[in-house]
Amino acid sequence: MKKYLVIGNPIEHSLSPILHSYWFKQYNVEAQYEKKKLLDKNLKDIITDLRSDKISGANVTVPFKKSIIPFLDGLTVEATKTQSVNTIFKVNNEIRGHNTDIGGFVKSLDQLKFKTAGKKAFILGAGGVTSSIIFALNGMGVSKIFVSNRTKEKAEELKKLFPKIEILDWGKKPPEFDIVVNTTSIGLKENEKIELDFSNYKDKLFYDLIYNPSQTKFLLDAQKFKNIIKNGLEMFVYQAQESFEIWHGFAPEVNVKIYSILRK
Ligand code: ATR
Repeated sequence: MKKYLVIGNPIEHSLSPILHSYWFKQYNVEAQYEKKKLLDKNLKDIITDLRSDKISGANVTVPFKKSIIPFLDGLTVEATKTQSVNTIFKVNNEIRGHNTDIGGFVKSLDQLKFKTAGKKAFILGAGGVTSSIIFALNGMGVSKIFVSNRTKEKAEELKKLFPKIEILDWGKKPPEFDIVVNTTSIGLKENEKIELDFSNYKDKLFYDLIYNPSQTKFLLDAQKFKNIIKNGLEMFVYQAQESFEIWHGFAPEVNVKIYSILRK
Protein backbone atom coordinates (compact mmCIF):
# COMPACT_ATOMS: atom_id res chain seq x y z
CA MET A 1 0.00 0.00 0.00
CA LYS A 2 1.26 3.47 -0.86
CA LYS A 3 2.27 5.58 2.08
CA TYR A 4 2.21 9.36 2.46
CA LEU A 5 3.45 11.50 5.32
CA VAL A 6 3.23 14.97 6.74
CA ILE A 7 6.51 15.88 8.41
CA GLY A 8 7.02 18.68 10.92
CA ASN A 9 7.82 19.50 14.51
CA PRO A 10 5.48 19.84 16.33
CA ILE A 11 3.08 17.74 14.27
CA GLU A 12 0.47 16.46 16.75
CA HIS A 13 -2.02 19.18 15.74
CA SER A 14 -1.91 18.37 12.00
CA LEU A 15 -5.28 17.67 10.38
CA SER A 16 -3.71 16.48 7.12
CA PRO A 17 -4.08 12.74 7.94
CA ILE A 18 -7.82 13.16 8.61
CA LEU A 19 -8.36 15.02 5.34
CA HIS A 20 -6.30 12.76 3.06
CA SER A 21 -7.72 9.62 4.70
CA TYR A 22 -11.26 10.96 4.12
CA TRP A 23 -10.50 11.36 0.42
CA PHE A 24 -8.86 7.89 0.22
CA LYS A 25 -12.08 6.39 1.53
CA GLN A 26 -14.26 8.57 -0.67
CA TYR A 27 -12.43 7.57 -3.87
CA ASN A 28 -11.33 4.03 -2.92
CA VAL A 29 -7.66 4.93 -3.06
CA GLU A 30 -5.55 2.22 -1.41
CA ALA A 31 -3.15 4.36 0.58
CA GLN A 32 -2.15 5.45 4.04
CA TYR A 33 -1.37 8.97 5.28
CA GLU A 34 0.40 9.52 8.59
CA LYS A 35 2.02 12.32 10.54
CA LYS A 36 5.66 12.08 11.53
CA LYS A 37 7.53 14.28 13.97
CA LEU A 38 11.07 14.84 12.79
CA LEU A 39 14.33 16.38 13.83
CA ASP A 40 16.60 18.18 11.34
CA LYS A 41 18.96 15.21 11.32
CA ASN A 42 16.13 12.90 10.10
CA LEU A 43 15.30 14.92 6.97
CA LYS A 44 17.67 12.89 4.81
CA ASP A 45 16.04 9.62 5.93
CA ILE A 46 12.72 10.79 4.50
CA ILE A 47 14.39 11.39 1.15
CA THR A 48 15.95 7.92 1.31
CA ASP A 49 12.48 6.46 1.94
CA LEU A 50 11.10 8.39 -1.04
CA ARG A 51 13.89 7.11 -3.29
CA SER A 52 13.21 3.50 -2.31
CA ASP A 53 9.41 3.98 -2.66
CA LYS A 54 8.86 3.23 1.01
CA ILE A 55 7.04 6.57 0.92
CA SER A 56 5.22 7.85 -2.18
CA GLY A 57 4.96 11.51 -1.20
CA ALA A 58 5.09 13.91 1.72
CA ASN A 59 3.72 17.20 2.96
CA VAL A 60 6.14 19.42 4.81
CA THR A 61 5.22 21.83 7.54
CA VAL A 62 6.88 24.07 10.15
CA PRO A 63 9.86 24.27 10.57
CA PHE A 64 11.12 22.31 7.52
CA LYS A 65 9.59 24.12 4.52
CA LYS A 66 12.93 25.76 3.67
CA SER A 67 15.43 23.40 5.26
CA ILE A 68 14.16 20.44 3.18
CA ILE A 69 15.21 22.17 -0.06
CA PRO A 70 18.92 21.12 -0.18
CA PHE A 71 17.85 17.45 0.02
CA LEU A 72 15.64 17.61 -3.08
CA ASP A 73 16.62 16.97 -6.72
CA GLY A 74 14.49 19.77 -8.10
CA LEU A 75 11.89 22.42 -7.36
CA THR A 76 8.87 23.76 -9.21
CA VAL A 77 8.84 27.45 -10.11
CA GLU A 78 6.56 28.25 -7.17
CA ALA A 79 8.83 26.47 -4.69
CA THR A 80 11.90 28.18 -6.14
CA LYS A 81 10.42 31.67 -6.03
CA THR A 82 9.18 31.28 -2.45
CA GLN A 83 12.03 29.06 -1.19
CA SER A 84 9.29 27.08 0.49
CA VAL A 85 8.25 23.48 -0.08
CA ASN A 86 5.12 21.92 1.40
CA THR A 87 4.69 19.02 -1.04
CA ILE A 88 7.24 16.45 -2.14
CA PHE A 89 6.60 14.17 -5.08
CA LYS A 90 8.58 11.85 -7.30
CA VAL A 91 8.78 12.07 -11.07
CA ASN A 92 11.23 10.25 -13.38
CA ASN A 93 13.10 9.03 -10.29
CA GLU A 94 13.64 12.60 -9.15
CA ILE A 95 12.46 13.87 -5.77
CA ARG A 96 10.89 17.26 -6.35
CA GLY A 97 9.45 19.96 -4.13
CA HIS A 98 6.40 22.09 -4.83
CA ASN A 99 4.45 24.73 -2.94
CA THR A 100 0.67 24.29 -2.78
CA ASP A 101 0.22 26.90 -0.01
CA ILE A 102 0.14 29.50 -2.77
CA GLY A 103 -2.72 27.83 -4.66
CA GLY A 104 -4.50 27.15 -1.37
CA PHE A 105 -4.44 30.82 -0.44
CA VAL A 106 -5.54 31.94 -3.92
CA LYS A 107 -8.45 29.48 -4.01
CA SER A 108 -9.60 30.54 -0.54
CA LEU A 109 -9.78 34.15 -1.74
CA ASP A 110 -11.62 33.10 -4.93
CA GLN A 111 -14.30 31.61 -2.68
CA LEU A 112 -14.69 34.95 -0.96
CA LYS A 113 -15.08 36.83 -4.25
CA PHE A 114 -12.88 39.54 -2.77
CA LYS A 115 -11.24 41.50 -5.58
CA THR A 116 -7.54 41.66 -4.84
CA ALA A 117 -6.21 43.36 -7.97
CA GLY A 118 -4.97 46.88 -7.32
CA LYS A 119 -5.42 46.52 -3.55
CA LYS A 120 -2.88 47.21 -0.82
CA ALA A 121 -1.88 44.36 1.49
CA PHE A 122 -0.34 44.36 4.95
CA ILE A 123 1.32 41.13 6.10
CA LEU A 124 2.18 40.41 9.71
CA GLY A 125 5.03 37.95 10.20
CA ALA A 126 7.95 36.62 8.18
CA GLY A 127 7.83 32.90 9.00
CA GLY A 128 7.83 29.80 6.83
CA VAL A 129 4.58 30.49 4.99
CA THR A 130 4.88 34.26 4.47
CA SER A 131 6.71 34.02 1.13
CA SER A 132 3.78 31.96 -0.24
CA ILE A 133 1.33 34.69 0.73
CA ILE A 134 3.47 37.40 -0.90
CA PHE A 135 3.86 35.32 -4.08
CA ALA A 136 0.10 34.65 -4.19
CA LEU A 137 -0.85 38.30 -3.62
CA ASN A 138 1.62 39.44 -6.29
CA GLY A 139 0.07 36.93 -8.69
CA MET A 140 -3.36 38.36 -7.92
CA GLY A 141 -2.16 41.81 -8.88
CA VAL A 142 -2.03 43.69 -5.58
CA SER A 143 -0.51 47.16 -5.97
CA LYS A 144 1.53 47.19 -2.75
CA ILE A 145 2.67 44.81 -0.01
CA PHE A 146 3.83 45.93 3.44
CA VAL A 147 5.50 43.36 5.70
CA SER A 148 6.13 43.71 9.41
CA ASN A 149 7.89 41.17 11.60
CA ARG A 150 9.16 41.25 15.18
CA THR A 151 12.58 40.09 13.99
CA LYS A 152 13.25 42.60 11.24
CA GLU A 153 16.11 40.59 9.71
CA LYS A 154 13.64 37.91 8.65
CA ALA A 155 11.52 40.50 6.83
CA GLU A 156 14.72 41.73 5.17
CA GLU A 157 15.44 38.17 3.99
CA LEU A 158 12.01 38.20 2.34
CA LYS A 159 12.86 41.45 0.60
CA LYS A 160 15.72 39.62 -1.13
CA LEU A 161 13.12 37.30 -2.68
CA PHE A 162 10.54 40.06 -3.27
CA PRO A 163 12.36 43.40 -3.67
CA LYS A 164 9.14 45.40 -4.06
CA ILE A 165 7.80 44.72 -0.57
CA GLU A 166 8.03 47.53 1.97
CA ILE A 167 9.20 46.60 5.45
CA LEU A 168 7.60 48.26 8.45
CA ASP A 169 8.90 48.20 12.01
CA TRP A 170 7.05 45.77 14.27
CA GLY A 171 4.21 47.63 15.94
CA LYS A 172 3.74 50.06 13.02
CA LYS A 173 0.82 50.06 10.59
CA PRO A 174 0.96 51.13 6.95
CA PRO A 175 -0.68 54.43 5.94
CA GLU A 176 -3.51 52.46 4.37
CA PHE A 177 -4.39 48.90 3.41
CA ASP A 178 -7.31 46.84 2.08
CA ILE A 179 -6.20 43.39 3.23
CA VAL A 180 -4.27 42.39 6.34
CA VAL A 181 -2.95 38.84 6.68
CA ASN A 182 -1.68 37.42 9.95
CA THR A 183 1.05 34.87 9.18
CA THR A 184 2.46 34.91 12.73
CA SER A 185 1.63 32.28 15.32
CA ILE A 186 0.17 34.92 17.64
CA GLY A 187 -3.33 33.77 18.57
CA LEU A 188 -2.64 30.05 18.54
CA LYS A 189 -2.54 30.22 22.33
CA GLU A 190 -5.45 31.67 24.26
CA ASN A 191 -4.96 35.24 25.50
CA GLU A 192 -2.28 35.96 22.90
CA LYS A 193 -3.04 38.91 20.69
CA ILE A 194 -1.46 41.18 18.15
CA GLU A 195 -0.69 44.50 19.79
CA LEU A 196 -1.99 46.74 17.03
CA ASP A 197 -5.10 48.87 17.19
CA PHE A 198 -7.31 48.18 14.18
CA SER A 199 -10.43 49.81 15.64
CA ASN A 200 -10.53 52.57 12.98
CA TYR A 201 -10.81 50.13 10.11
CA LYS A 202 -13.96 48.83 8.48
CA ASP A 203 -14.85 46.97 5.27
CA LYS A 204 -11.31 45.62 5.03
CA LEU A 205 -10.37 41.96 4.70
CA PHE A 206 -8.79 40.51 7.84
CA TYR A 207 -7.27 37.10 7.09
CA ASP A 208 -5.70 34.94 9.78
CA LEU A 209 -3.85 31.84 8.62
CA ILE A 210 -4.60 30.29 12.01
CA TYR A 211 -7.69 28.05 11.94
CA ASN A 212 -7.55 26.58 15.42
CA PRO A 213 -8.97 28.49 17.26
CA SER A 214 -11.37 29.28 14.43
CA GLN A 215 -11.57 32.92 15.52
CA THR A 216 -8.49 34.51 17.01
CA LYS A 217 -8.73 37.82 18.89
CA PHE A 218 -7.48 39.43 15.68
CA LEU A 219 -10.54 38.14 13.78
CA LEU A 220 -13.02 38.70 16.62
CA ASP A 221 -12.01 42.36 16.87
CA ALA A 222 -12.05 42.79 13.11
CA GLN A 223 -15.57 41.40 12.95
CA LYS A 224 -16.68 43.69 15.74
CA PHE A 225 -15.59 46.66 13.62
CA LYS A 226 -17.49 45.41 10.54
CA ASN A 227 -14.66 44.01 8.51
CA ILE A 228 -14.67 40.86 6.37
CA ILE A 229 -12.90 38.02 8.15
CA LYS A 230 -11.41 34.71 7.11
CA ASN A 231 -9.45 32.05 8.93
CA GLY A 232 -6.95 29.59 7.46
CA LEU A 233 -9.13 26.49 7.22
CA GLU A 234 -10.01 26.85 3.55
CA MET A 235 -6.42 27.54 2.60
CA PHE A 236 -5.49 24.38 4.49
CA VAL A 237 -8.11 22.32 2.63
CA TYR A 238 -7.16 23.67 -0.80
CA GLN A 239 -3.42 23.20 -0.31
CA ALA A 240 -4.22 19.58 0.58
CA GLN A 241 -6.44 19.23 -2.50
CA GLU A 242 -3.57 20.36 -4.76
CA SER A 243 -1.11 17.99 -3.06
CA PHE A 244 -3.59 15.15 -3.47
CA GLU A 245 -3.95 15.93 -7.17
CA ILE A 246 -0.18 15.88 -7.67
CA TRP A 247 0.09 12.44 -6.04
CA HIS A 248 -3.09 10.77 -7.30
CA GLY A 249 -3.80 12.49 -10.60
CA PHE A 250 -7.20 14.00 -9.84
CA ALA A 251 -8.54 16.76 -7.62
CA PRO A 252 -10.80 15.44 -4.87
CA GLU A 253 -13.99 17.34 -4.15
CA VAL A 254 -14.09 19.91 -1.37
CA ASN A 255 -17.51 19.80 0.28
CA VAL A 256 -19.27 20.92 3.46
CA LYS A 257 -18.80 17.48 5.04
CA ILE A 258 -15.04 18.04 5.01
CA TYR A 259 -15.36 21.27 6.96
CA SER A 260 -17.64 19.66 9.52
CA ILE A 261 -15.16 16.79 10.04
CA LEU A 262 -12.22 19.18 10.37
CA ARG A 263 -14.02 21.51 12.77
CA LYS A 264 -14.73 18.68 15.22
P1 ATR B 1 9.34 29.84 11.47
O1 ATR B 1 9.85 31.22 11.77
O2 ATR B 1 10.16 28.74 12.06
O3 ATR B 1 9.00 29.63 10.04
P2 ATR B 1 6.62 30.17 11.93
O4 ATR B 1 5.70 29.56 12.95
O5 ATR B 1 6.35 29.94 10.50
O6 ATR B 1 8.03 29.71 12.32
O7 ATR B 1 6.69 31.74 12.14
C1 ATR B 1 6.39 32.32 13.30
C2 ATR B 1 6.08 33.79 13.01
O8 ATR B 1 5.34 34.30 14.11
C3 ATR B 1 7.32 34.64 12.89
O9 ATR B 1 7.04 35.71 12.03
C4 ATR B 1 7.50 35.13 14.33
O10 ATR B 1 8.22 36.30 14.47
P3 ATR B 1 9.83 36.24 14.68
O11 ATR B 1 10.40 36.04 13.30
O12 ATR B 1 10.19 37.53 15.29
O13 ATR B 1 10.10 35.07 15.59
C5 ATR B 1 6.06 35.38 14.69
N1 ATR B 1 5.81 35.38 16.14
C6 ATR B 1 5.61 34.32 16.94
N2 ATR B 1 5.36 34.70 18.21
C7 ATR B 1 5.41 36.06 18.21
C8 ATR B 1 5.25 37.08 19.22
N3 ATR B 1 4.96 36.77 20.48
N4 ATR B 1 5.35 38.38 18.85
C9 ATR B 1 5.62 38.71 17.56
N5 ATR B 1 5.80 37.80 16.56
C10 ATR B 1 5.70 36.50 16.88
